[in-house]
Amino acid sequence: MTFSGTQLTAMHAPLLGVNIDHVATVRNARGGFFPDPVAAAQLAVEGGADIITFHLREDRRHIRDDDVVRLKEAIGVPLNFEAAVTDEMIAIIERTAPEHVCLVPERRQEVTTEGGLDVLGQLARVSDACQRLAAAGSRVSLFIGADPGQIEASAKAGAPCIELHTGALANAWWAGDTALVEAEMARLKAGIQLGRSLGLRTHAGHGLALSSDLPMARDPRETSSAFMVAALPDVAELHIGHALIGRALFVGLRQAISDFKAEAIRGRAFSTV
Ligand code: PXP
Repeated sequence: MTFSGTQLTAMHAPLLGVNIDHVATVRNARGGFFPDPVAAAQLAVEGGADIITFHLREDRRHIRDDDVVRLKEAIGVPLNFEAAVTDEMIAIIERTAPEHVCLVPERRQEVTTEGGLDVLGQLARVSDACQRLAAAGSRVSLFIGADPGQIEASAKAGAPCIELHTGALANAWWAGDTALVEAEMARLKAGIQLGRSLGLRTHAGHGLALSSDLPMARDPRETSSAFMVAALPDVAELHIGHALIGRALFVGLRQAISDFKAEAIRGRAFSTV
């Protein structure tokens, strides 16, 4: 069997995890049932999402417990269940048995997940969670900053995967701060290399966007943060929520997903497979 260049690149492009939390945020603004994040997840799968990502927060500000049950029943692609390392969340995940879990830090006052998980500072607790979740059949990933100490601690904790927090890169990109973008890209690259040397599978996410979503004054042909991160060799999955759901308001969910997937393929093609 022979493959064309485009097919090869698509095969090697990072998988796209679509985070549906913000559909639930809009629903919860009025309570009730609409718009339904589970219906959005079904549409996202039809539109090409490889993974459905959601975060059940302690305060249930977006995804609710009944959404988790319905997602498990309705969605045919892997679910990536994001949660804090608490006894309550670990028990819910054990009951749900999603294909993937991403352990994240959580502070009630934060607007979104602002920093990475401190694995180093709570190694025993995170190791225990990794063991329990692996025993429940879930593949565990730890959402951390690209910091060598945290990456090494993640390997020690027994997690097979890490997700590198791209928030600092994304903020620098939105601000048009080229020097900071370069510094953050170098940090991510070094983190990915270290992860690879420790046998970890690496994912990335937070704040990633397309250039056509930049403010009017900026050039829509600028290299996007989604492209840059997809171009990093060895990033196996991208997890994207806010900018994708925001874009869907203008172009529809299917189109937004296909735009982000196309960007991931272009980025990966640039990185020479
Ligand atoms: N990855 C993780 C672990 C997250 O917690 C989130 C949401 O905060 C994302 C990716 C997606 O970030 P965003 O919504 O900014 O695209």
